[in-house]
Amino acid sequence: MVNKEEYPLLTVEEAVKKGEGKASLRGWVYRKRGSNKLRFIVLRDSTGIIQLVVINSSVEDRVWDTAEKLGIEASIIARGALRKEEKAPTGVELNVEDITLVGSSENWPITKSHIKSREFLDDHRHLWLRSRKMSSIMKVRSTVFRAIREFFNRDNYEEMPPPIFSPNACEGGATLFEVKYFDKKVYLTQSWQLYGEAAIFALEKLYCISPCFRAERSKTSRHLAEFWMAEVETAWMRFEGLLKQAEELVLFIVKEVLRKNTKELEILGRDISKLRKVDAPFKKITYSEALKILKEKDGVEVHWGKDLRTVEEDLLTRHFDKPVIVTNYPKEIMAFYKPRDPENPDTALCFDMLAPEGYGEIIGGSERDTDIEELKKGLEREGENPANYEWYLDTRRYGSVPHSGFGLGVERVVAWLCGLDTIRDAIPFPRTMRRWRP
Ligand code: 4AD
Ligand code: MG
Repeated sequence: MVNKEEYPLLTVEEAVKKGEGKASLRGWVYRKRGSNKLRFIVLRDSTGIIQLVVINSSVEDRVWDTAEKLGIEASIIARGALRKEEKAPTGVELNVEDITLVGSSENWPITKSHIKSREFLDDHRHLWLRSRKMSSIMKVRSTVFRAIREFFNRDNYEEMPPPIFSPNACEGGATLFEVKYFDKKVYLTQSWQLYGEAAIFALEKLYCISPCFRAERSKTSRHLAEFWMAEVETAWMRFEGLLKQAEELVLFIVKEVLRKNTKELEILGRDISKLRKVDAPFKKITYSEALKILKEKDGVEVHWGKDLRTVEEDLLTRHFDKPVIVTNYPKEIMAFYKPRDPENPDTALCFDMLAPEGYGEIIGGSERDTDIEELKKGLEREGENPANYEWYLDTRRYGSVPHSGFGLGVERVVAWLCGLDTIRDAIPFPRTMRRWRP
């Protein structure tokens, strides 16, 4: 019997840091190669990779047999002595004395030739999650969630998740997912906002991070049918304060990801210097100024009153090396809850924050209209029946106050920070028009 104390169980990261002494490591076989004298096994756990070396002449036959038969992604526990080795992938290797097979793995289906096939990897997402690419992205995503919570908690916001079944649209009927609800029909939530607005009259400062559902027919690299949105709603807050809050949140997320995930960003091949340039203040331009830039710098003419499309956002953001805030979109094409700007009545007191490098809109927000008649007109313009929104209009009838809020698309931010080609990799199990399994 080997005394366990002599072989402390370490994570791969701890083992690489330590670089000497005896250790037990557990994880999965990431790569393997070797001859009938020597076997190199790269072991992977959630913290990193390390090389294991098995020498035929110095281990028991049982250990050698186990090492020889290991398949890619088999789970094992290995024991031995750590030492520094420049040639090892992470500079340290474990000289194996014993190996225990925990779970065998035969014919791991993902081979090098598959890595270029998007469809294949998406079909095998449950296994592909183990790749260094996906696990790095998931770590960044986790940091983003944590940073959002920390940002709002520090400022004494309360967290209130929304109902997922909703009787109403928030962002227009076209992208609603209808669900059979007993013998009625309801929708999957598009946004927490209307519920957040109702609850600020009780709690004043509220946020949530929640899944949102939109039947997006566009097959862009930016749209998911199920995505996560961080939303905030604040009583008494005006437009200027809102813009400041959105900027501070994004700066905090970037700072936290740079602090915690440089290793992951490097694995992803992200140009980190671009993220380091993201500092305050972000440039603020109006929609009309955006049209001017598009015309003068890109020769692209957008008719005043038309929303910016993905292509135009792309062009626009290429002129900035940090996020840019576009305010005052035309009132007539904005969601019903965005109020008219009294100083510029054709436009709304609203903004989008666009990420650089062509990533486009990451945040949408506005002050909220408190005028019941205007709200009703807006709903009718969207083809909605104001009667279905009576509960929401009540919030304006009983002690209405100015308030503002925004929603940040978590996967849009992750895609930008990680430099991904598609938002589908920013979520572990993507759902789009054509992809709903596994
Ligand atoms: O601009 P949107 O539609 O705004 C709202 O839903 C507001 N009710 C939010 C609020 O003020 N509380 O969506 C907000 C953000 C977008 O900026 C984008 O980042 C993300 O949510 N988003 C999507 N992300 C992935 N896939 C989709 N289909 C998305 N639709 C919106
Ligand atoms: Mg938007």
